[in-house]
Amino acid sequence: MIPIISNRELAPNIYEMVVENKMLARRARPGQFLIVMPDDRGERIPLTIADYDVEAGTVTMVIMAIGTSTRKLVRLGVGDSLYAMLGPLGNASEIENYGTVIMVAGGVGAAPIYPIARAFFEAGNRVITIQGSRNKDLLFWVDKLASVSSEHIVTTDDGSFGRKALVTEPLREFLEKETVGCVYSIGPAIMMKFCAETVRPFGVHTIASLNSIMIDGTGMCGGCRVRVGGETKFTCVDGPEFDALAIDWSIAMARQKSFCAAEKCSLDRYVELNGVEK
Ligand code: FES
Repeated sequence: MIPIISNRELAPNIYEMVVENKMLARRARPGQFLIVMPDDRGERIPLTIADYDVEAGTVTMVIMAIGTSTRKLVRLGVGDSLYAMLGPLGNASEIENYGTVIMVAGGVGAAPIYPIARAFFEAGNRVITIQGSRNKDLLFWVDKLASVSSEHIVTTDDGSFGRKALVTEPLREFLEKETVGCVYSIGPAIMMKFCAETVRPFGVHTIASLNSIMIDGTGMCGGCRVRVGGETKFTCVDGPEFDALAIDWSIAMARQKSFCAAEKCSLDRYVELNGVEK
């Protein structure tokens, strides 16, 4: 059992949950992920590690509560425990000194990009963070991301905070005016695809962290497969980070929609049984 230390809503339907897990906190590295189960009947939920504290023995996850299992998960609070937590899984980010690194975070991608940005920053890179959101209400960890960035730009689709723009606009401007060693993107697949297309003409090494559908998380079920550079890869054991310019984005995005009908059915039933709003 994994005790929950805190659970707070950062933005509508976005929760920050801190749990006690000393062993995992000791072994976690930026870029890795976990699989959690809220109860013995819940599905296995893959979540990228958002933060960890070796001294306190805690691990932080940021959860977007949009389906049945994530809704069950965020209903747990202090005094409750997770039924199961597996990890750390996947390959850690390769932290090198690139000179300048641009980190692009879209929506809830601000959470998993934080420990990677911090590691690049601590390794002496000039870290430019571009944090995008639909509007100011959905923004979170702005100060936290800024604290590990040499330069931090916020964009919103509606201009309610920061610059009214898509993340690709400041990304292109930085690529045009300075030498960039590496670009990272974490967020919705469509955003990562357009980041890759923005960077392609500049020939800069570009990484995307994929949030594929997963079941076992250990390379056995094939549920998380993607095409990268013409080869089939498993996000859980070969990733979750891949060369963004080599990912077949149409296949990756199509596979994410594979279970939409089943997910909707499950959520409708959950809403009906629990009398909660959709
Ligand atoms: S989640 Fe099963 S192979 Fe990756």
